[in-house]
Amino acid sequence: MGLRLTNTTSTYGWGAIILHWVIAILFIGQFVLGLAMSRVTSQRTAFELIQLHKSFGFLLLGLVVLRIAWRLGGVTPRLPPQTGLLERRTAPLAHFALYLFQVALPLSGWALVSASVLAIPSMPFGLFVMPNLPLGMSAGAEGFWLKAHSYLAYAGMALAALHVAAAFRHHFWLGDNVLLRMIAPSFGNGRRGAE
Ligand code: HEM
Repeated sequence: MGLRLTNTTSTYGWGAIILHWVIAILFIGQFVLGLAMSRVTSQRTAFELIQLHKSFGFLLLGLVVLRIAWRLGGVTPRLPPQTGLLERRTAPLAHFALYLFQVALPLSGWALVSASVLAIPSMPFGLFVMPNLPLGMSAGAEGFWLKAHSYLAYAGMALAALHVAAAFRHHFWLGDNVLLRMIAPSFGNGRRGAE
């Protein structure tokens, strides 16, 4: 069989897998970078780190739009038949919430720099100038978006932690292929999976 790009009802394809892991790394990496840049003492380093955080944030937003289009345009693998009713009900909600955070976090960051009275232009990886969102600039609005961005970041990480715990439970406790099928399309064969 050739390279499987799209999902089937029993496994993820490379398109969804690559987007999942690149976005997961960016999502967690942005959280770490966000904490680091607001704690360094050197103004110069803080400035550089913030520019990097903005660049990766715009990249993340672009990839998330692609990911949502990819998801809506294809099928999603079913949960293994032995999955309990509670998880059958909550897993789609958790995934939907994760998508919401993936959109809301970069957007709130974009709103924050757009409302900032410092008016520092955003240049993703120094390539071009990203226009600001049409929001009024004021210290009040900037403060609001900063709070929103930071609460969303903590809540997003808590949800991601729950998601990782669920994935590990499938792998180590239930012994099914739910984690493996997000690593390679054919990896899940031989373990209990979707029929
Ligand atoms: C080490 C970290 C992570 C692990 C081990 C992991 C594991 C998984 C696994 C096993 C699935 C497949 C679930 C299924 O087969 O039904 C999945 C799906 C998903 N993951 Fe993760 N994940 C991680 C990080 C993240 C992060 C940080 C995000 C959000 C930014 C995320 C968002 C999603 C979403 C939205 C889906 C649903 C995909 C779909 O069917 O549309 N994951 N993840």
